[in-house]
Amino acid sequence: MRFDKKKKNEIINIENFIDYNKNLKVEEKTFKKLMFAYSVALKELTTKIEIMKDEFEILYDYKLIDHIDTRIKTPESIINKMEKRNLKLTYSNMIENINDIAGIRIVSPLKKDVFSIKNLIQNMNGINIIKEKDYITYPKKSGYSSYHLIVEIPIDLSKQNIYVKTEIQIRTLAMDFWANLEHKLKYKPEVPMDDKKKSMEWVNCAKIVRKLDNKIMRNY
Ligand code: GTP
Ligand code: MG
Repeated sequence: MRFDKKKKNEIINIENFIDYNKNLKVEEKTFKKLMFAYSVALKELTTKIEIMKDEFEILYDYKLIDHIDTRIKTPESIINKMEKRNLKLTYSNMIENINDIAGIRIVSPLKKDVFSIKNLIQNMNGINIIKEKDYITYPKKSGYSSYHLIVEIPIDLSKQNIYVKTEIQIRTLAMDFWANLEHKLKYKPEVPMDDKKKSMEWVNCAKIVRKLDNKIMRNY
């Protein structure tokens, strides 16, 4: 009886079910493999940056880096970004166009530290810089300030070596404070201001943050 029931279910569902699952598994496996590569790249880079942080504290008695944040972009966020850019959802499009699947944020106390860190990364062996954006010298319209690098990290697997892209954001504690709050509060519905006014307020806050960073650096 039990056997019959099972058999019946299998006969009814088998084609769609197995095909569907087979595809799903292949897709999931490809995605998993890719995400593994991005996570290895992120680990490698994070270790290098942590070594940089420790080196300056231990050898030079200097706090170059306050803290490091890392994240891997969620599948939903990858898809959203690709759809926003009207990209067909293929893995090759994802690999080619989405540069911030693996992301590391380095937060330093002072503005001059940001540029020192950037120079140190540029001089690291084996890392290729493929894009650079200086939103500190040229802040974005929104007021956003940070130094961005898209780099390629070589990852060493047992059967292959692969270059994997990672986004690095370098900013001061003050810039980080602004960016985190702006990201969190900009679209908060209970803020009773129209979008334009809200944006202007954030631009003004960013100016204060810039003044603060410059003032702190002068007094250091
Ligand atoms: P995406 O913004 O990631 O689509 O990439 P993009 O190619 O436009 O690069 P860009 O360098 O402009 O921004 C990359 C990242 O910087 C974003 O994903 C955010 O983390 C950060 N960022 C850029 N602009 C802003 C901003 O106005 N406010 C905040 N809070 N973060 C920003
Ligand atoms: Mg991003």
